[in-house]
Formats: sequence, structure tokens, C-alpha cells
Amino acid sequence: MIAAYSATSQARVNAALETLFTAPSPELARLYEAMRYSVMNGGKRVRPLLAYAACEALGGKPEQANGAACAVELIHAYSLVHDDLPAMDDDDLRRGQPTTHKKFDEACAILAGDGLQSLAFSALLDPRLSTSAAEIRLQMVSALALAAGPAGMVGGQAIDLGSVGLKLDQKALEYMHRHKTGALIEVSVTLGALASGRAEKDELKSLQTYAQAIGLAFQVQDDILDVESDTETLGKRQGADIARDKPTYPSLLGLDAAKAYALELRDQALHALQPFDAAAEPLRDLARYIVDRRS
Ligand code: IPE
Ligand code: IPE
Ligand code: MG
Ligand code: MG
Ligand code: MG
Repeated sequence: MIAAYSATSQARVNAALETLFTAPSPELARLYEAMRYSVMNGGKRVRPLLAYAACEALGGKPEQANGAACAVELIHAYSLVHDDLPAMDDDDLRRGQPTTHKKFDEACAILAGDGLQSLAFSALLDPRLSTSAAEIRLQMVSALALAAGPAGMVGGQAIDLGSVGLKLDQKALEYMHRHKTGALIEVSVTLGALASGRAEKDELKSLQTYAQAIGLAFQVQDDILDVESDTETLGKRQGADIARDKPTYPSLLGLDAAKAYALELRDQALHALQPFDAAAEPLRDLARYIVDRRS
């Protein structure tokens, strides 16, 4: 089920993303090539899948969430390009290929990331990708800005970089993970729900509870995979957190307790979806997938 749903949704978001990288002039060809390289290089597309699934859970058609799906993947891709830079995690491999600063150069990677961030907001407003009412688009832009910015993902990355070599307690680690990774996962669900045009307050609240749980679970599993997967499967260097002395769930709790915590979060997420009918099945499958995945 999840495999078929993923394939269809990945094809849908990839087709929409593919329209965004045409350079307006030859002088900008390299910048656009670097942006395209950073986005159209595989990736699981978990955030777009969540946007589509949330839209469908509320009875919307997945196509209605194309703008939302592109926007969250563009922010995600930008965050990875910058995360891999020498000044941050200094990684050479991403999605099985050289990182953007290795393939191009550092200045180009910084600018490609900046460009992708702007494109994300344009995608929410692009009439080819979204026909949501103006008021809904405003809510989407505001929610994405909050989640991606200093009170969300960027803030989490700042804490991450300030925590190298430190021993965080569980509360501080959770705070960091909820910001650096959870915020964008959460807003993926929110934007998808808004794109349905049918989001009621109670439903949004339940979806938010779901999204908060899987957002944290996603980074807990990312930390677990850094310990027990391998570079080829991950498409990024295994053991990078340990090598850089990053605080992670396995380093704090031990591997078994980290795994148990990921499953507990999955169950919290599934519980939050109890008021929803079969239309929320893709969201349920995604919660299971997030803690079962091997890459
Ligand atoms: C990796 O995200 C970075 C984190 C926020 C943990 P993903 O595991 O979603 O990476 P891709 O998009 O599939 O490459
Ligand atoms: C990345 O966290 C979070 C963001 C990019 C916002 P990580 O540094 O753990 O991601 P990977 O492991 O490099 O994919
Ligand atoms: Mg990092
Ligand atoms: Mg990293
Ligand atoms: Mg990681």
C-alpha cells in the first residue's frame, strides 16, 4: 500500500517540481542547474507525501496540495544543501551523490539554498500549482515562514550546531529535534490540510498532534539509522553523528530505548488519527513507515 502510494505521490510532486528550474537567462544557468541538482536527485519525498495524505484525509484531491508539496520539499532541499556545507555538518555525500558544494562549489551551494528557499514561497502562490483561496494561501505562507525560520527549522539547526560535543538532557534534545526536523514535518501536514479547503479547527488540532509525534519520530529514526544502517543504503555517510560527537537519541538513551521511543511516538500519532475514517489510511501508513524505514 505505502509503496504504491509513495510511487504515485513521488511522480506527482516530481512533475510539479520539474517545472520550477528553467533559468530566465543563460547567465543564471549554473545557479539553476545547482538548484535542480539539489532537488531532483532522489530523496524519499516524505514531506510532500504527508502534504498529499493530509489533504486526502480531509476529503481533498491530492492535486490540490501540489503547491504545498513543492514548497515543503524545496525548503527541505535547501536545508540539506546548507546542512552539508563545511561550516555545518561538512558532508560529501547526499542521496547517493556528491553534495551540492562538492558538485559545484561552496558559494554556489549557499546561493542555490537561498534560491530554493525563495522558490518555496513562490510555489505556494503559483497558480499552476495551487488554486486555493487567497485567504488560505496567506495562512500557508505564514505557517511555512514560522516553521522554516528562526523559531522553527533554522532555530533547531542553530541549537544543533551549538550542541556539538555537549551532553544534552532529554528535554533539550527533544527541543532541538522538534525544531530542526519536527517543525517542517508538522507544517507539511498543516499545509496539506489547508490545501483541502475543508480544514476545521478540531481536525487541524488532531492532525497537529499526529504531526508533532511523527516529526519527532522522524528525527529519532534518523539518529538510529546513523548508528545501524550503512552508507550505501542511506545515501549519506553512516556514523557521521558519532564522528562529529552530535547529541542524538541513541547516544542519550541507548539504541534499544531510542527504538522503543520511536515506536511509542508512532502509536501516539496513530491514536491522534482515531477520529478520522479510511481516507486517513495513507497518513497512518506514513506513521508506520517513518519508524520502519531503513533509509
Ligand atoms: C534527512 O531527511 C534530514 C532530516 C531532517 C533528518 P530525509 O531522510 O527526509 O532525506 P531525503 O529527502 O529522503 O533525502
Ligand atoms: C538535518 O539533520 C536537519 C535539517 C537539515 C534541517 P541531520 O544533520 O541529522 O540530517 P542528515 O543526517 O545530515 O540528513
Ligand atoms: Mg545537521
Ligand atoms: Mg547533517
Ligand atoms: Mg542525521
